Amino acid sequence: MRRLAAETRLHAADLVLPLFVKEGLSEPAPIASMPGQVQHTEASLRDAVADAARAGLGGVMLFGIPAERDATGSAGDDPDGILQRGIRIAREAVAAVEGETGRPGPVVMADTCLDEFTDHGHCGVLTTDPAGEQVVDNDATLERYAAMAVAQARAGAEVVAPSGMMDGQVAVIRDALDDAGFTDVSVLAYSAKYASAFYGPFRDAVDSALQGDRRTYQMDAANSREGLREADLDLAEGADMVMVKPAGTSLDVLRGVADRSDVPVAAYQVSGEYAMIEAAAAHGWIDRRGAVLESVLAIKRAGADVVLTYWANEIAEWIK
Ligand code: PBG
Repeated sequence: MRRLAAETRLHAADLVLPLFVKEGLSEPAPIASMPGQVQHTEASLRDAVADAARAGLGGVMLFGIPAERDATGSAGDDPDGILQRGIRIAREAVAAVEGETGRPGPVVMADTCLDEFTDHGHCGVLTTDPAGEQVVDNDATLERYAAMAVAQARAGAEVVAPSGMMDGQVAVIRDALDDAGFTDVSVLAYSAKYASAFYGPFRDAVDSALQGDRRTYQMDAANSREGLREADLDLAEGADMVMVKPAGTSLDVLRGVADRSDVPVAAYQVSGEYAMIEAAAAHGWIDRRGAVLESVLAIKRAGADVVLTYWANEIAEWIK
């Protein structure tokens, strides 16, 4: 009866697995604050994407960790940069499994942001404001995002995902993709992205060099109307999908965005949400499987069509 009456269900096809690929790595490197997750080598990324394809996931979201960082994040749009290499590998791995199984594999998505590529760790390029402070230069950053998105599309990304919260990023990326002929590449906009302590473990995952914080461009957790407004702006700029993040602390915003969006709505269950459940479960303080399933079900119940979660493969296995 509970099964029959359930309003919300989890499907593998609704889940997207975030994956990290690091340049110059010889063995996969465990991420200490995210037990069970690793920084991949190019070879282990291929296997991980193949596993995601066999699990029937809807997508994979790739993050690249370059060997060299600089002020403008030049590795981010290098045609041979680590993220572009990872995208090519992921597309090959998906195609191989599609050939084996005859079923459609996961969509290959790429994070379109500079923080993994800059030596200061900010999501954009910096400038000095009139008061002498170092700040992120919104419009100069947009040019970098446009170049990154095109490089990612050339490498085979089917979805680019601007996550830097610069104003106008969706419109600029859409134009750049269209001008380069990539009219079919979709934009998944991180629309309502809060400045959050829950991204902490992600800093380990990408060896982040962040100096300062991201509060000048990511949103204040105090605000929910602002999240709706950010989503409206991205929809007007042509986003093909909008995202709310972190998921677990923004379920109200997620519901609000889902109620007004006419495109699919995604939510990102972030590194800190993952780490909390893993840590409590490791102590025997919480039922791991129950907590994982409940947390993702709640995100879907709040209105997410698509959930990015580090547990995607495992959940797909459980619900098979
Ligand atoms: C930016 C980006 C971040 C995450 C996804 N994309 C870090 C940030 O904005 O500080 C965080 C994801 C997570 O914590 O799991 N490239």
